Amino acid sequence: MSDFEHAVELTDVTVSRNGMVTLDRISLTIKRGEFAGIIGPNGAGKTTLVKAILGLIQPDSGEIKVFDRPISELGHLRSKIGYVPQIFTIDLNFPVTVCEMVLMGTYGRLGIARRPGRAEKDAAMAALEKVGIVDLKDRPIGRLSGGQRQRAFIARALANNPDLLLLDEPTTGVDVATTGNVYTLLRGLKSEGVTVIMVSHDVGVVAAYIDTLACLNKSLVAHCRPGETECNNALQAMYGCDVAFLHHGDAPHIVVEEHE
Ligand SMILES: Nc1ncnc2c1ncn2[C@@H]1O[C@H](COP(=O)(O)OP(=O)(O)OP(=O)(O)O)[C@@H](O)[C@H]1O
Ligand SMILES: [Mg+2]
Repeated sequence: MSDFEHAVELTDVTVSRNGMVTLDRISLTIKRGEFAGIIGPNGAGKTTLVKAILGLIQPDSGEIKVFDRPISELGHLRSKIGYVPQIFTIDLNFPVTVCEMVLMGTYGRLGIARRPGRAEKDAAMAALEKVGIVDLKDRPIGRLSGGQRQRAFIARALANNPDLLLLDEPTTGVDVATTGNVYTLLRGLKSEGVTVIMVSHDVGVVAAYIDTLACLNKSLVAHCRPGETECNNALQAMYGCDVAFLHHGDAPHIVVEEHE
């Protein structure tokens, strides 16, 4: 796609839900090719932020740009954004197979009038291969395990070769080995030039894979690199306990000290 400098740029964005301010004057820039994590306590506004970037929720004020353009002017570039929603927002009784669902990921480039053809089917199969679930392609999505389902949703987001991938807690309910595979997969996408923004509660694990961490608690507490003092201070401010990244080998990990 055409050149862009910033994958996502929010300037002074405020969002309300049910009359309550949920995101308060957020300014945040995610550079092209960055692997960014978003963390924060329950109700901090992480999902709201992701949906605002996708244009699914309108801000009260401020500006949101994706690929250096206001989201209202994205046009066909909208299909270059992949999205893996938070799991509990998904209707698992929806009667489609894994393959059909992944194929839906290509509808953005097709428009509503055209039916998927050979190219779209090949793209769907390639995405299933990437996440290692080709053998499950004919299974209804309601009959997958948690980890298999997350892989299917990631495959759907990948089917259109996105330049920007947004994932809202993609490893919830996923076992440790599969979680590692998902992160390794995302790191591989990053090395191919894809910008990845991932909401996660797995701060410690995530820190080993990501470039930057956006610490969110209604306002943006910090946007920093894991291990930096700013990041440690932000975690302490958000979780109200002694939390810190410790460098251990190559990978920073997180330590939470419980108070008596
Ligand atoms: N559909 C909705 N309508 C009204 N308010 C909502 C809606 N969804 C979320 N909220 C409210 O907005 C605030 C932020 O919610 P959001 O889902 O963005 O948090 P989150 O950080 O993603 O939390 P979690 O870690 O639990 O997923 C919360 O106070 C929540 O109650
Ligand atoms: Mg959420």
